[in-house]
Amino acid sequence: MVAALAAFPQALPFLKGSVRAAGTGLPQPDFSDLPSLRVLAEKAGIFFGAAVQLRFLQEEMDFARAVQKECSMIVPEGSLKWSVLQPQENRWNFQPADSLLSFAEGNALKMRGHTLLWHNAFPAWAEEGLREGRGEALLEAHISKVVGHYKGRLTSWDVVNEAINPKDDHPLGLRDTPWLRALGPDYVAKAFRLAAQADPNARLVYNEFILEGEEDKRAAILALVRRLQDANVPIHGVGVQSHLWAPKRQRVDKIRAFCREITRMGLDYYVTELDVGEKDYGDDFEKRDLLVAERAREYLDAVLTECKPKEILTWGLSTRHSWMADPRYFKSNAEGKPIRGLPLDGAMKRTRLWHVLYQALSGLAPAEAKA
Ligand code: G3I
Repeated sequence: MVAALAAFPQALPFLKGSVRAAGTGLPQPDFSDLPSLRVLAEKAGIFFGAAVQLRFLQEEMDFARAVQKECSMIVPEGSLKWSVLQPQENRWNFQPADSLLSFAEGNALKMRGHTLLWHNAFPAWAEEGLREGRGEALLEAHISKVVGHYKGRLTSWDVVNEAINPKDDHPLGLRDTPWLRALGPDYVAKAFRLAAQADPNARLVYNEFILEGEEDKRAAILALVRRLQDANVPIHGVGVQSHLWAPKRQRVDKIRAFCREITRMGLDYYVTELDVGEKDYGDDFEKRDLLVAERAREYLDAVLTECKPKEILTWGLSTRHSWMADPRYFKSNAEGKPIRGLPLDGAMKRTRLWHVLYQALSGLAPAEAKA
């Protein structure tokens, strides 16, 4: 393991020392001579990036280099969540996210915010506060402090994350969370209004995951956004997390219709957390990589046929660090097995998914920029 960096690689030539031992070194086609996703995204006039964790940027020079090379933006995987920012009431911890922002700004990358209101990564003290009827005050204090702290420096915010779950049988399809129980359905609008007050220029996004076949969820998301717009609540985009599932073909007609509706509503579509989950972790990597790539291709082809996202991010850049290996969060439990569903593998080599992103971004670049 390389020695921790005293400071961040503000300018990557600064980085010296050996690269961390290669990861899995598993077979990959060779895409190494192609321009980076960052170059393609810049030509296309959009941002491409990935979720990152501070410790990996500090401890793994090969990873830090890969982020600077392939990404034009980052999103903190956890540093902007309540559990990190305000682990106890009024005890603020901005250091991790500030460090990530200094890495971004030091390497001419942008950063987006995730997430101001979620039912996970939500500390027990705050949940107690909601039960005590202090929800509005806590929400206002949190959002005004956090959005104010980063005012003008982030490209967009996931204001509310995962508020929809039709399986919870709420008449509006809302997820049964401590926020809904404490503040009622209007908590979503409250969060957006507070974010807009704290930074009138921030691009405000509702972020959600949609599993294949969840048409009722798509409908509930659109209904939520329409209610916000009808109430003149400032909202600029819908973030679709885009956690794809390799074993299941997608209904691209439904994806395209959803993109069209979001565009028709005057909103931007954000691909916020793209990756491809698997059930089979066998050693036939060629077969797995082709399936992972096909899922990503069918999804991105559908989305990019209908709209041009301002930001496309993967949830992690390298399979060396992915929530998909964490059995607490990923049901099919890749724990300890090499996974394949991100743009770089554990050795920071470009995967077939990387090449699908390369082709998708190339398709977005204007003809004159393709040269
Ligand atoms: O940093 C602490 C460490 O100090 C401690 O020793 C360790 C003990 O378990 O926990 C570490 O924090 C973990 C954190 O990830 C950083 O690794 C938390 O326990 C763990 O709950 C947290 O999980 C994250 C999860 O969201 C919950 O916040 C995952 O990394 C992250 O990938 C996942 O991301 C979510 C998006 O925010 C929303 N969309 C779905 C996506 C995947 O679940």
